[in-house]
Amino acid sequence: MSTLDILKLCYLLGSVSFIVGLKMLAKPDSAKRGNMLAAIGMTIAILGTIFFHKNEEGKSIGNLAWIFGGIAIGTIVGYLAAMKVKMTQMPQMVSLFNGMGGACAALIGIVEMDTHNPELFGERFTIFLGLMIGTVSFAGSIVAYGKLEGKVKDYGSKFQQFFNNTFIFAILALVVYASLNVDFMPTSVIWILFAASMVYGILFVLPIGGADMPVVISLLNSFTGVAAAFGGFLYHNQVMLTGGILVGSAGTILTVLMCKAMNRSLWNVIIGAFSGSSGGGKSTEGLSIREINATDTAILCAYAQKVTIIPGYGLAVAQAQHACHEFEKVLEEKGVEVNFAIHPVAGRMPGHMNVLLAEADVSYDKLKEMDDINPHLPNTDVVIVIGANDVVNPAAETDTTSPIYGMPIIKANTAKNIIVMKRSMAKGYAGIENELFYDNKTRMLFGDAKAMLEKLVAEVKAV
Ligand code: TAP
Repeated sequence: MSTLDILKLCYLLGSVSFIVGLKMLAKPDSAKRGNMLAAIGMTIAILGTIFFHKNEEGKSIGNLAWIFGGIAIGTIVGYLAAMKVKMTQMPQMVSLFNGMGGACAALIGIVEMDTHNPELFGERFTIFLGLMIGTVSFAGSIVAYGKLEGKVKDYGSKFQQFFNNTFIFAILALVVYASLNVDFMPTSVIWILFAASMVYGILFVLPIGGADMPVVISLLNSFTGVAAAFGGFLYHNQVMLTGGILVGSAGTILTVLMCKAMNRSLWNVIIGAFSGSSGGGKSTEGLSIREINATDTAILCAYAQKVTIIPGYGLAVAQAQHACHEFEKVLEEKGVEVNFAIHPVAGRMPGHMNVLLAEADVSYDKLKEMDDINPHLPNTDVVIVIGANDVVNPAAETDTTSPIYGMPIIKANTAKNIIVMKRSMAKGYAGIENELFYDNKTRMLFGDAKAMLEKLVAEVKAV
């Protein structure tokens, strides 16, 4: 077997592991193993390239000290960051790491153009486009990270969209022109393109509302995948191509699904049209709420046959997942059937509630998807909405003027009793009133989710 055969085998193993790993990510119980499998595949592909790749003159890659030095630093930084990060900070980390992927794709373009300056249109176009997309992804991801950390404010003017659109067309025109004309500013075009793409990446993300960042990050993620796939074309490297296409398509699908679950178009997200502060929807003036305390809630739940917990963003903020699992256990000890109703965009990132509850060892079969649980809610004695707001807002079904009209919801309002646990009457992400809180069957249980759930656990035990 020649070294080339071994390298091809490594790439084949890498590609297969990415595809199988991605498939395994679709289910919570296999997701961890899927992630590990894809990581092993990536390691095989990297080591294969380092040891078995030969250039046209038959020379190996060399520079082993630099390469392994870089790998060691990257591994340590990545490991420490992943161990330290809090679940609520996960979108920031994904954004930062995605930015690094974009930067790598951009660097490939810079290095290739600088050292080879290829003459074929196809090669030049691939390099320029990869550089542009990778740089936009890098700059955009860093701004997205800054926004999620609260370090960068939303900024946008009426003219910004017009300016952004004109700017991106100008960059694309430069890409096409420089690809067609080998003699056009051969040394500086790459740097002009890099600088312009950096500016565009910043301007593209700056006006988008902070709370829309998960959608934007997913979009930028797909950009990075596309940029990496361009690298795969350039180097005729199958594993890079497969990985890039998988990231690109998965990112695009996720972006579309998130928009669909929020009932918004991608354009609406990009122009920053509903970013957590919008009004709209019916007024709740004149309506009154009814409160309940922890003791009465505990009695209601402990004597119920079926209780469904509907978690939302507030559960993540309060880090109340463990207390929530305790609450589930004490109720089950009393013979109550407990389930969790999971909305696809509850929280602030895809699968947020699944990850949070899995961390607390809640059994996967208790997590019911919205469409599966909704028909059972009319037979449910008590639903407890914990730190959720928009995902249970009936306005999505009844109020055509509401910004969330058309968004599928968990129909908490159809249950026999509704308890809403949150700290105040504050609005959720969409910035609108929630009529559910004023429903005759609803009682508000005010307090921080973690503290309140701990109280409930003690109260249920005492029943
Ligand atoms: P939200 O509508 O954002 O409501 C969360 C509620 O949690 C708030 O009303 C808040 O009320 C309460 N809360 C905050 N901290 C709390 C704490 N410590 N203890 C108890 N309650 C607390 O959340 P949701 O229902 O999960 O909906 C998610 C929203 O985010 C949707 O509009 C969705 O479209 C959007 N979104 C989701 C994603 C993904 S991918 N998941 C991405 C982008 C946007 P108080 O302040 O009164 O406590």
